[in-house]
Amino acid sequence: MRVILYTGKGGVGKTTVAAATAVRCAELGYKTLVMSTDAAHSLSDSLDMPLEGRGQPLLAPNLWGQEMDINRTIADHWGEIQKYISALLAWKGMDKVMAEEMAIFPGMEELANLLYIAHYEDDAKYDVVIVDCAPTGETLRLLSFPEILHWWMDKLFPIERKLMSLVRPLAKRVVSMPLPENKVLDDAELLYSEIERIHALLTDTTKSSIRLVVNPEKMVIKETQRTFAYLNLYSYSTDLIVCNRLIPKSAGNGYFSAWLESQTSYLQMIEECFSPVPLRKLHLQEREVVGIPMLKGLAEALFGNEDPAAIFFQGQSQEVRCEGGHYILSLDLPSLEKGQVSLMRSGSELIVQLNNFKRNIILPVVLRQLEVGRASFEQGRLEIKFESKK
Ligand SMILES: Nc1ncnc2c1ncn2[C@@H]1O[C@H](COP(=O)(O)OP(=O)(O)OP(=O)(O)O)[C@@H](O)[C@H]1O
Ligand SMILES: [Mg+2]
Repeated sequence: MRVILYTGKGGVGKTTVAAATAVRCAELGYKTLVMSTDAAHSLSDSLDMPLEGRGQPLLAPNLWGQEMDINRTIADHWGEIQKYISALLAWKGMDKVMAEEMAIFPGMEELANLLYIAHYEDDAKYDVVIVDCAPTGETLRLLSFPEILHWWMDKLFPIERKLMSLVRPLAKRVVSMPLPENKVLDDAELLYSEIERIHALLTDTTKSSIRLVVNPEKMVIKETQRTFAYLNLYSYSTDLIVCNRLIPKSAGNGYFSAWLESQTSYLQMIEECFSPVPLRKLHLQEREVVGIPMLKGLAEALFGNEDPAAIFFQGQSQEVRCEGGHYILSLDLPSLEKGQVSLMRSGSELIVQLNNFKRNIILPVVLRQLEVGRASFEQGRLEIKFESKK
């Protein structure tokens, strides 16, 4: 089963591009499910078809769609645990309504939606699952930190399971604190293992990839760069950058001439920021893109004769590793010849230049407090050393 996740800054066209990709995959004969994990759903508006939280209705030949119902998601993956946590918080004196809200930590709803994907892999009903994600890719970061979840859960379930079954009857009589029942502990264990499974599936570069939708505008590019850096850092593979809303040359005169000019230079910047990940371009259409026929047209403009389910790029184009007390940022640049490397640091950004190639990188937080050291280029990999400040 192929899994493709679309993310990017708010409003860039994620839902539209995800829906168009799905429509094209179905047309090519893949059994395709398009689902939205974003609580603010707009997939059904884009497809111009009703979608429901339950089940995955058939929308066209080979095309199924799903918009998750948040209450169902929580009940499926998180129900007993959430009930227990809210009881615990209420016991600590928190207002009941607030306790219920607090029992769901940020990103949990979307994470829970992603957990369904592992079940779809078991069912083997779909060849391709396309996911319209929430804006920032924050969930994928959360998914990369099972330790955070462990920490959180350890605070809530401090007592070993075996001990719990011994002390529960006694403790219930002595303290009024709610104690987790076996069902709660079972659910917590199940949640751990499901999170580990979905993490393994989404970081399996032979099956899953992330696609970043971007617009040729400064703020959009900066945010997407940050997302890209984190995706690389947490071992997700980004296989395609889609630059959406380019103004066609024919429309770029008069009122839009300055837009056309700035878009041309930002397009160049996008190439520098994300290479070697391939880039596909999409023009701003004459009208908003709604409904399957229009999505088909958009997919054709985007992919032409290519298979949209293909893996366009595999692996991480940048990696950070710790070696002998310092960090190394390693960039995969297979097409480049050996040459003079120049590095320029500006705050959280690093501009790397090698011959005619320029790459603009947003540094992950771990590297920001360090000093840039030596760089070397061997066999298509550029390695940059980062050392503690003297
Ligand atoms: N290339 C395009 N040409 C014309 N209209 C477009 C294009 N791409 C997207 N749109 C329109 O822009 C609007 C926003 O697009 P969309 O909902 O796909 O963005 P999004 O990134 O999913 O937003 P959100 O962050 O709110 O989920 C929609 O009305 C869509 O039809
Ligand atoms: Mg959307």
